[in-house]
Amino acid sequence: MMRKKIIAGNWKMHLTAEAARALVRSMFEMTIDQSRSQVVLFPPVVYLEAFASGMKKEGLYFGAQNCSGKPQGAFTGEISADMIGSVGAQFCLVGHSERRQYFHEHDADCNEKIKALLAQNITPVLCVGEPLNVRDLSKQNEFVEQQLAGSLAGLSSQEVAKLYIAYEPVWAIGTGQTATTLQAIDMHTFIREWLSLHFTPKSAELIPLLYGGSVNEQNAKDLLHAKNIDGVLVGGASLKPGSFASILSCV
Ligand code: PGA
Repeated sequence: MMRKKIIAGNWKMHLTAEAARALVRSMFEMTIDQSRSQVVLFPPVVYLEAFASGMKKEGLYFGAQNCSGKPQGAFTGEISADMIGSVGAQFCLVGHSERRQYFHEHDADCNEKIKALLAQNITPVLCVGEPLNVRDLSKQNEFVEQQLAGSLAGLSSQEVAKLYIAYEPVWAIGTGQTATTLQAIDMHTFIREWLSLHFTPKSAELIPLLYGGSVNEQNAKDLLHAKNIDGVLVGGASLKPGSFASILSCV
């Protein structure tokens, strides 16, 4: 099955308003061949409304980096899925390794967030991936399997088919040490087989699987042309318009 290639940019906690506006404007100058690719940007949430409802470009979408799993209420500092949807955003990252590491998010939290997002018709981009000590023991499949099982518990095949999943080995994030294309292919193949077994082969086929972790203009081409890699989730290089445009041109 031919899936569009997804080029996603996670800006993390970078850029004040003026710099963020300048970066998003430069993204609007990129050529996006909609028949082949989809670009999704994850700016800090304070800019989401201005970008997602104020700026329209074919093939370019916006998402939040995180959301609450609760629908609404007395949760100071939190942002709900329906708020994200109400400003025109269509995606939300769930369970990024930095959320897991620094904010102690667990698979059960991811599960709650995914359900909250699906209820608002927002596409969750579930992030999974093993730390270095697990990779060193060659236990990465078992580790990711547990993350998937916990995060997707209680979802129907139809619901799961609406997700995107990003494989981001923790040891490759922000380190400059990207996984080899073969390591990424192996894990993506494992994830798709696992999804096919636990849901339906049809739903597993529909889910775009992104690779993330030190993606740049040098390694993007190999990754984007590899079997079972449907896109990339780019951190550092998404803050540099030239690099991000070069990654997009690798599709
Ligand atoms: P990086 O980040 O590209 O800077 O390694 C990727 C991510 O955390 O999504």
